[in-house]
Amino acid sequence: MSDEKSILKIEGLDAGYGISQVLFDISLNFNAIGATAILGMNGAGKTTLLKTIVGEIIPDNGVIQFDGENSTTENTDKKIRRGMAYVPQENAVFNKLTVKENIILGANASNKKADIDMVLDFFPKLGERLGQQAGTLSGGERKMLAISRALIGNPKLIMLDEPTEGVWIGVIEEIAERLELLAKEISVILVEQHLELALKVCSYTYVLDRGKVALKGPSENVRKDTELLRLLTP
Ligand SMILES: Nc1ncnc2c1ncn2[C@@H]1O[C@H](COP(=O)(O)OP(=O)(O)OP(=O)(O)O)[C@@H](O)[C@H]1O
Ligand SMILES: [Mg+2]
Repeated sequence: MSDEKSILKIEGLDAGYGISQVLFDISLNFNAIGATAILGMNGAGKTTLLKTIVGEIIPDNGVIQFDGENSTTENTDKKIRRGMAYVPQENAVFNKLTVKENIILGANASNKKADIDMVLDFFPKLGERLGQQAGTLSGGERKMLAISRALIGNPKLIMLDEPTEGVWIGVIEEIAERLELLAKEISVILVEQHLELALKVCSYTYVLDRGKVALKGPSENVRKDTELLRLLTP
């Protein structure tokens, strides 16, 4: 993957919560176009990694290079304005606000005008629910709304933390199809428990084990690696 343009490069990253270190010497590279999976068991450090990339956690060591600039200590606002988008694992939408208000807020966060039509082309079902309070959406609809909010600013990179968690299989397939389309245009980082979905959508895969990169490579190679099941089995 070295001959393709990189959007995000991480080198020697150590991070965690106070004295509790979670990530150890992590180095990763993400192409400007395409999808990359981050796999690993519960507690491996996947969410911590995304939070560190987006700037919610300041790393103890290492360098994060985003879109040609050193963004190791850059704050989250600035990263989002520069084209990074993040769909967190939990609490990704404002329950008391309507679908439309949530989408517009996503645009404000990225300093871009809301192009609601673009988002509704992507997930047409949300169009029927623009006036509905986000807290009353189904689990799958809420995930779609969270992705829409992140996309409205036209990001160069989108990170999704378990976008199919608790979602019915039909909607999982819809989300997977949309992510495959997105990955033709921008960089997609997908944290996923659903192994088959991750390997299908993502051409490259990293597997974390207790905060370290334990396995990496093109997804077709990772799929065949006998280490994979051991790393994902508690
Ligand atoms: N705010 C926090 N303060 C202290 N420790 C934390 C905090 N958040 C997470 N941790 C710890 O960091 C480790 C990694 O957690 P993280 O949420 O990154 O894992 P994960 O790979 O996303 O797991 P899951 O698949 O369950 O979402 C865990 O041991 C967790 O208990
Ligand atoms: Mg997590």
